[in-house]
Amino acid sequence: LVIFSLFVLPLQAAGTIKIGGIFPITGPVATFGISCANGAKMAVEEANAKGGVLGSKIELIIEDDQYKLEEAANAARKLIERDKVVAIVGGVTSSEALTIGPIAQSSKVVLVTGTATNPKVTQVGDFIFRVCFLDDFQGEVMANFAYKNLKAKTAAVLTAVTSDYSKGLADAFKKKFTAIGGKIVADESYSEGDTDFRAQLTKIKALKPDFVFVPGYYSDVAPILNQARELGITVPFGGGDGWDSPELLKQAAKAAEGCFYSNHFTPDAKDLLVQTFVKNYTKKYGMAPDALAALKYDAMKFLLEGIKKAGSADPVKIKEALASMKTFRGVTGSMTFDANRNPIKSAFILQIKDGKVVYYTTVKP
Ligand code: PHE
Repeated sequence: LVIFSLFVLPLQAAGTIKIGGIFPITGPVATFGISCANGAKMAVEEANAKGGVLGSKIELIIEDDQYKLEEAANAARKLIERDKVVAIVGGVTSSEALTIGPIAQSSKVVLVTGTATNPKVTQVGDFIFRVCFLDDFQGEVMANFAYKNLKAKTAAVLTAVTSDYSKGLADAFKKKFTAIGGKIVADESYSEGDTDFRAQLTKIKALKPDFVFVPGYYSDVAPILNQARELGITVPFGGGDGWDSPELLKQAAKAAEGCFYSNHFTPDAKDLLVQTFVKNYTKKYGMAPDALAALKYDAMKFLLEGIKKAGSADPVKIKEALASMKTFRGVTGSMTFDANRNPIKSAFILQIKDGKVVYYTTVKP
C-alpha cells in the first residue's frame, strides 16, 4: 500500500494544475466570500467537465481569510509555498488584494482578482490582473447619476476610513461631483464594524444634502440606512458595488427603498451568455448569482484562458499570455484591457424598488 501510494501521488500531481482561491467566506463580508467561492468553483467544474486545461485537471484550493488581512497574507503564503499553486484567484476586497498582491508579485505567482476595484491593486506589479472596472470609474458614474439624473446639487459622503475601497471610491465621487458643479456639504467617516452612526448622520441631516453617498460594504451600509431613516433623513442614498448582498435587503429593505448603486452585473441582462450562467448557477446553488459570483466566474475563466494560451502552467508564461489578451467577453460584459492590466467595461446602475434590486441603466466607459 505504501509503495502504491508513493508511486501514484506524483503521477496524479503531474496531471493537475493547482490554483488557489482566497475569499472572506466567514466574517463581516461573508456573502462576498461565499459568492466568490461559488463562482470560481463553477468555472473550474465546467472546465474539468470538458477534460480540464492542457489535458490537466484544475484543482482549486480555497482558503477563507475571514476578511482579516493577516489571514489573507498567511493564506497566500501557504498556497504559494506549501501547495505550489501557479495562480491565485482572489483578493475579494481591495484591502485583501493589496495584501495578497505584493506576496504574489514577489513570488512570481499570477493573481487575478475579479472584484478588487481600487486603482492601486494592479499597480503592485505585472503579475496582478483584474476583470472588474475601477473605483475611479464607478465614483464618476455615481456622481454623474446623482447630479444629472437625481438632480442633486448638494451631497454628503460617509466613508469607511478603514477600507482602501471606501476611501478611493469616496475620493472619486467627490472629485467628479464637484467638477460638474455639485457641492459636497458634509464629509463624514466611520470605521468598519461600527454600529452607531447617529453622530455622523445627525450632522449630515442638519446640512440638508440632496443625496448621500455611502461607499461602504453591505454590513455597514444596512445599519447606516436604518439609522438614517430613523433620524428622519428621507433623501436617496447611493453607493457602489459594496452594497451588493442579499443581506442588505434582509436587514434594511425598507430603509434602502429608492436607493441606487453601481454594480458589475445584472441577472436581468438578455444576453444568452448571462442567461445560461444565471440558469446553471441558480440550479447549482439554489439562488441567483450576484456580481461577486459573476466576477469570480469571469476571473477564473480569464485565467484558464490564459493558461490555455500560454500552453503551459508556468506562471511567467501565464502572465505573458494574460497580458497579451486584449479583449475578454464574460458574464459581466465585454471588456478590453489597457496597458496596466485594467479592463475598460460598462457599469450598471441598480435601484432598490419594491424591496427588490432592479436594473436601472447601463453606463458605458
Ligand atoms: N469592489 C470592492 C472592493 O474593491 C469589492 C466588491 C466587488 C464588493 C463587487 C461587492 C461587489 O473592495
